Amino acid sequence: MKKLFKRDKSELDLNNLPQHVAIIMDGNGRWAQKRGLMRSAGHLQGSNRFRSAAKYFQRIGIKYFTVYAFSTDNWKRPKEEVDGIFELLEKYLYESIDDMKSDNIVLNFWGDLSRLSPKLLKLIGETDELSLKNDGMHVNVCLNYGGRAEILRAAKSFAADCREGKLTPDALTEEEFESRLYSANTPPPDLLIRPGGETRISNFLLWQLAYTEMVFTDVLWPDLTDDKLEKILIDYQHRNRRYGGI
Ligand code: IPE
Ligand code: IPE
Ligand code: MG
Repeated sequence: MKKLFKRDKSELDLNNLPQHVAIIMDGNGRWAQKRGLMRSAGHLQGSNRFRSAAKYFQRIGIKYFTVYAFSTDNWKRPKEEVDGIFELLEKYLYESIDDMKSDNIVLNFWGDLSRLSPKLLKLIGETDELSLKNDGMHVNVCLNYGGRAEILRAAKSFAADCREGKLTPDALTEEEFESRLYSANTPPPDLLIRPGGETRISNFLLWQLAYTEMVFTDVLWPDLTDDKLEKILIDYQHRNRRYGGI
């Protein structure tokens, strides 16, 4: 007999959402170039898309949202493009303080922040304080982030503890190592989305992506609307994650 109220497979199942979604926000520059605009216009559009996507994920109940905003290799770009990206970030931080209060967001920054301006570091300090009070969706913004650098940093911190006699090398388990990554206390991403047409990882979350489901799309990041994100989530929900089993 046909089951009544059977769930439509083309609809998003809110009871089976990925816990953690990560996005490599790529394609801003090409989005602008296609329109004859400066690359900075693409970054502005990309940052607005990020803010909308975060609201959408928060609304449907995603617990962790991690984005690649600026890599350790993005310093190779012209100074004015880099400055423009950090200006947008400053603006985002100012404005997100209200959102953090109203939406209970925990905002974290993953990466080597030592190269950021004092102004940006001060703003990050303010959001850190607010984050301590909150327990809603975690938004992790990867800034001056590189996956290899993150792994080296964890390895150095373990080596230092060994040198000081606090630990011996046989204490190094996966859990011990993970506790020294930026992502300590965060489940690994269930789903990685890379818009912009490139099918590579570009040094993002190298440790954490071991069993992550991946979606690569030609859509440029500023064009990856909530509707398109929903379709990607539905695609994810039809996958069979085996983790090496059968
Ligand atoms: C991603 O968009 C944003 C950053 C790397 C900061 P891009 O700027 O890389 O856009 P494309 O790849 O040149 O289109
Ligand atoms: C990855 O995009 C970094 C971010 C989105 C922040 P890139 O545009 O820097 O990566 P490549 O150069 O295509 O590998
Ligand atoms: Mg790019």
